[in-house]
Amino acid sequence: MLFVANWKMQKTLDQSIQFVQKHIDALKALNRQIILCPSFPALYPLSQLLENSSVFLGAQDCSPHELGAYTGQVSAQSLAEVGCTYCIVGHSERRNYNKESNSEIAQKATQLLHQNIIPIVCVGESQQEFEKKQSIDVLHNQLEPVFKVIESQSSASTVCIAYEPIWSIGTGNVPDTQYLQNIFDTLKEWCSAKTSKTKYTLLYGGSVTGENIQQFYQVENIDGFLIGGSSLDFQKLKKIVS
Ligand code: PGA
Repeated sequence: MLFVANWKMQKTLDQSIQFVQKHIDALKALNRQIILCPSFPALYPLSQLLENSSVFLGAQDCSPHELGAYTGQVSAQSLAEVGCTYCIVGHSERRNYNKESNSEIAQKATQLLHQNIIPIVCVGESQQEFEKKQSIDVLHNQLEPVFKVIESQSSASTVCIAYEPIWSIGTGNVPDTQYLQNIFDTLKEWCSAKTSKTKYTLLYGGSVTGENIQQFYQVENIDGFLIGGSSLDFQKLKKIVS
């Protein structure tokens, strides 16, 4: 099981450092695959603090370009140099506020794969799409360009796909087990139909807490979780992970 803490822009640089300094031993003692994703300025100091530990470092976004005149963007190579092994791309907040397209997100995944960073590609439907029963179509459209670039890579790679229904993010509303089972069965089927070169890991994200985690374990094919709000507090994160 993989536990990805998406800190979004919720912790400052100092708060991110303090969290790791205070909890690094307890994090290691949990003995689980945990990935901390702070904002960009915290990546370097955290990479120093997490060095030689079992806790991994992830970024929250990267540029779709290799390098060049792209003010404000951060390249996948810089993320690799700073010690990231994972990077979230296509989070619904970026799709929404930064108008990121599916093909741009696929380009970001490509840049990451070139640097041996595992992309965590976020997909998910809106409330309206959910109500109109369009979820599977939405996921298909979001993932097709990503599958295309991944499958064109010559070397073996690992890719995480995080299913995060937008209506569940930060709301406390979570999909029921049967609905999730159908989604994860579909995702699994799509991934299995791809070449065996790529290893796909499927995550669920959206209002995951220590209180509701058990219900997700009833769903087959969920390999881990992308956790926002509940990852900010160590005790809450610990409850989920353990
Ligand atoms: P949440 O966020 O756990 O606060 O719902 C999840 C996410 O946005 O990745």
